[in-house]
Amino acid sequence: MTVAPSILSADFARLGEQVQAVLDAGAKIIHVDVMDGHFVPPITMGPIVVEALRDQVHGAGAILEVHLMVERPERHVEPFADAGADRILAQVEATPNLRFAVDAILRRDVGAGVVINPGTPVEAVAEVLDVVELVLCMTVNPGWGGQPFIPQSIDKLRRLKALVGDQAEIEVDGGVDAKTIGACAQAGASVFVAGSAVFGKDDPAAAVRELAAAASGG
Ligand code: DX5
Ligand code: ZN
Repeated sequence: MTVAPSILSADFARLGEQVQAVLDAGAKIIHVDVMDGHFVPPITMGPIVVEALRDQVHGAGAILEVHLMVERPERHVEPFADAGADRILAQVEATPNLRFAVDAILRRDVGAGVVINPGTPVEAVAEVLDVVELVLCMTVNPGWGGQPFIPQSIDKLRRLKALVGDQAEIEVDGGVDAKTIGACAQAGASVFVAGSAVFGKDDPAAAVRELAAAASGG
């Protein structure tokens, strides 16, 4: 069970300090939400943020996971790989050729994952399960932090787990907090992105520890 804090909800005026707090609390994945103003309305951050965090995150033995909410993700792999991304996640809805996008990631020797939106059926990932290490199931519509968890996601996660089996890890993203994380874990997820439930709290380090305990049934 791995909690992956999303820096989207962090205070960017003291990003290094906030990331250090969650690394010290044991976070092994730092999740970076990249939005292009096309695939989703907002524009967020690019490779320079990954580059700025790479030494700190790698020094703590953790990885940088880049969630590309961008059109044609295959065109953006190179700059994020150069910046130090350890895993790149492509949205299946954002490319006409998912296998090509995944291959572009793997060619750079970076871990590859794919992401499905709430309205996308689980079968959309079937033809790349042999090459991805992770499937991310969005549990809100992508674009913003702090949205409520979509309850139907739990049934969907069960169906996704039945399809994926042990071929890849299952991650959830959106509205994950101490109340929703346990059901996600029981339905088959093992990696949990949390933005506002970590950086929206007074003590992000304590929040990471509490979420990890709740995911493990504590
Ligand atoms: C949403 C992003 C998420 C976001 C989650 O589009 O992909 O990673 O940061 O935020 P919370 O945990 O606040 O729902
Ligand atoms: Zn995300």
